[in-house]
Amino acid sequence: MTEFTARIAGIGSYLPERILTNEEMSSMVDTSDSWIRERTGIRQRHIAPEGVTTADLAEQAARRALDHAGLTGEDVDLIVVATTTPDFTFPSVGTMLQARLGATKGAAFDVQAVCTGFVYALSVADNMIARGQAKTALVVGAETMSRILDWTDRTTCVLFGDGAGAMVLTGEEAGEGEQPGILGTYLRSDGRFKDLLHVDGGPSSTGTVGQLRMIGNQVFRHAVTNIAESMTTIAGRAGIGIADIDWFVPHQANQRILEGVARKLSIPTEKVISTVADHGNTSAASVPLAFDRAVQDGRIKRGDLVLMEALGGGFTWGAALARY
Ligand SMILES: CC(C)(COP(=O)(O)OP(=O)(O)OC[C@H]1O[C@@H](n2cnc3c(N)ncnc32)[C@H](O)[C@@H]1OP(=O)(O)O)[C@@H](O)C(=O)NCCC(=O)NCCS
Repeated sequence: MTEFTARIAGIGSYLPERILTNEEMSSMVDTSDSWIRERTGIRQRHIAPEGVTTADLAEQAARRALDHAGLTGEDVDLIVVATTTPDFTFPSVGTMLQARLGATKGAAFDVQAVCTGFVYALSVADNMIARGQAKTALVVGAETMSRILDWTDRTTCVLFGDGAGAMVLTGEEAGEGEQPGILGTYLRSDGRFKDLLHVDGGPSSTGTVGQLRMIGNQVFRHAVTNIAESMTTIAGRAGIGIADIDWFVPHQANQRILEGVARKLSIPTEKVISTVADHGNTSAASVPLAFDRAVQDGRIKRGDLVLMEALGGGFTWGAALARY
């Protein structure tokens, strides 16, 4: 059976216009700009206005990624959307997106792995492309985290924001040598840590959407250890040294986590793409948002080795290695 490599053909992202600054947050809860910046690196977050949903953000990012790839919705035969904040319990954001983009071939569905969602979705799409089950995949991370926050809880509401990012993957016949494409993905989870980061509602339990709950300092400790482990594992499996990787595109949760991981693995901070200051934690959207920023500003170039990683509720965590 022919094996295919999933090449990154295009990337795009979208943030809603409305910006909520740290100053504004300090008029809503007992916090301050200096506390938020020192503990998290976050300066502001973007908030989707009333009536604008996850599918709307996903659509904007997807259209930009398709334009970047020089493709249209008609070319797409797989859509995998990573989200924890879908428009509806069903149908999936994936199928909503399929209809909006005029994609009529193949399959569309959602993946739910919270902040690791994009890495999970990328892994699913990569594996389907490798087996020849799809030729042109759209992988999206899209969230309206603002809809599941407790806006009276200063320990969580200052951290999150809304946004979307998308990547187009195309299947190319696998060859020898340094070909561009996804080189590997590594997924992990451990359900024993559910209580440290969860949403306290859902259709089958409370019949409500629920709100995000987190014991932040405990999540922090797991984050640095597990993220570092996923990075060394994926690099080791690919036979690549951490020092040989050109760019690190982490989940954007907290600047201190990014720096803690970089220190642990002796990675120069200039190689770590950080956008957390501008949009806070956008959960599954954050990896493609950061990736897109670095492509747009010319840092990530064709041929560069890029390592993506994330950790989220569950716990879930993982990494993906790609030659862009
Ligand atoms: C949430 C986080 C920023 C808190 O920073 P921290 O340095 O760990 O702070 P702590 O939780 O220990 O709290 C320290 C103090 O700040 C207070 N505090 C919490 N949020 C605050 C806020 N927004 N403004 C002001 N003070 C705040 C706490 O109440 C606590 O006060 P106390 O000492 O009087 O009890 C940090 O733990 C974090 O980023 N964790 C990981 C979160 C994450 O990445 N989650 C998503 C993974 S996908």
